[in-house]
Amino acid sequence: MQKDEITIQNSDAGSSAVNCPFARRMERTPKSFIREILKVTESPDIISFAGGLPNPSLIDVDGLAQAAGDVFSTDGRTALQYSTTEGYYPLRRFIAERYKKRLGLTVSPDEILITNGSQQCLDLIGKILIDPGNNVVIERPGYLGAIQVFSLYEPVFVPVDLGPEGPDMESFGTAISKYTPKLFYGIPNSQNPSGITYSKEHRKACVEILQENCTVVVEDDAYGELQFSGNTPPPLKYYLPEQTLLTGSFSKIMAPGMRLGWVCAPRPMMEQLVVAKQASDLHSNYLSQRIASRYLEENDLDAHIAKIRSAYSSQAGSMIASLQEEMPSGVKWTQPKGGMFIWITLPAGCSSMDVFSQALKKQVAVLPGVPFYVDGSGTDTLRLNFSNNDPERIVEGIRKLGVVIRALCR
Ligand SMILES: Cc1ncc(COP(=O)(O)O)c(C=O)c1O
Repeated sequence: MQKDEITIQNSDAGSSAVNCPFARRMERTPKSFIREILKVTESPDIISFAGGLPNPSLIDVDGLAQAAGDVFSTDGRTALQYSTTEGYYPLRRFIAERYKKRLGLTVSPDEILITNGSQQCLDLIGKILIDPGNNVVIERPGYLGAIQVFSLYEPVFVPVDLGPEGPDMESFGTAISKYTPKLFYGIPNSQNPSGITYSKEHRKACVEILQENCTVVVEDDAYGELQFSGNTPPPLKYYLPEQTLLTGSFSKIMAPGMRLGWVCAPRPMMEQLVVAKQASDLHSNYLSQRIASRYLEENDLDAHIAKIRSAYSSQAGSMIASLQEEMPSGVKWTQPKGGMFIWITLPAGCSSMDVFSQALKKQVAVLPGVPFYVDGSGTDTLRLNFSNNDPERIVEGIRKLGVVIRALCR
């Protein structure tokens, strides 16, 4: 699949203000369609299922304020200084210990690099691994933020379809053996945008194929802690520790504005990632790291996450019940086991861009699926976010969306 086939091109990237051309990579890097849409949907009158925001009522503002106050009063001068590229050691140790407790992974704090959100992990990984023209296997539909950031390094994307249990194994096997990709990027837990969680069998089947090759696995686990049941199958990292870069984030379990994520990397890759990060930004926001670490000492993260899971599970339940009630036959949707999204497939030939425009007239925002496809397909798909609306607004929004879809998709 050629890079030329990405549809949401960056049309502003022709030339700079003084008429000198921008770097070629900017033309090939798609704009974030979500950020563009969010500009239109910010009004409180609009019921927005378009964004991907965690529920603000589940951010522990008081706990974070207390932790921030404690950091300033006990160690303010150090917390406001420059620090190490790898990140604050007690925070890295917390992450390593949590991997052991939750997932049985034996990881040293030295294998954890704290980043500016987990989005930065993808940028650093692109920097150290992707040369122009390298093949990158990605899920179809794939995470828009990964498509955007990897595009800067000019790869050739090889998309593999996702089914209800994970990647289509035949296509996955062909993609890995035929294209010998530099990396495979996947989100096995509550994938963004589809909400799909890979089954244990699919994980093992992926591992069997990957271990025969020198493809680096980039396992994005932004949503692993948000599985409604509290259980997740073992990560790919468990089976392929030396071949896998596992990324994680505090955005969905603490606060996205703190911009804290991490990558858990085998030591040789860790060394390269540290060099790339040094060159990028020296280190992640140290004050934020210190506040997060203090918060984790003073609070019970498991209890906090249990509240988030329970709220999101009931919000997802309301959305699914409303979809069953309101959607005409022929509309299909995924059944998320966690995370923040449900993926809709409209009847063949029905345009999600038309649904988007008509729904907006009724004060409901949805996200057309096309930007999640590296080949311009997916014109009949939509992503719906359930984490950022309470159940009443979800029911009202889906009722209005049902009216639109019944009128357009016959
Ligand atoms: C799959 C996935 N990966 C990474 C990110 C980036 O998150 P952050 O940089 O806030 O950790 C997101 C954000 O929504 C995401 O959905």
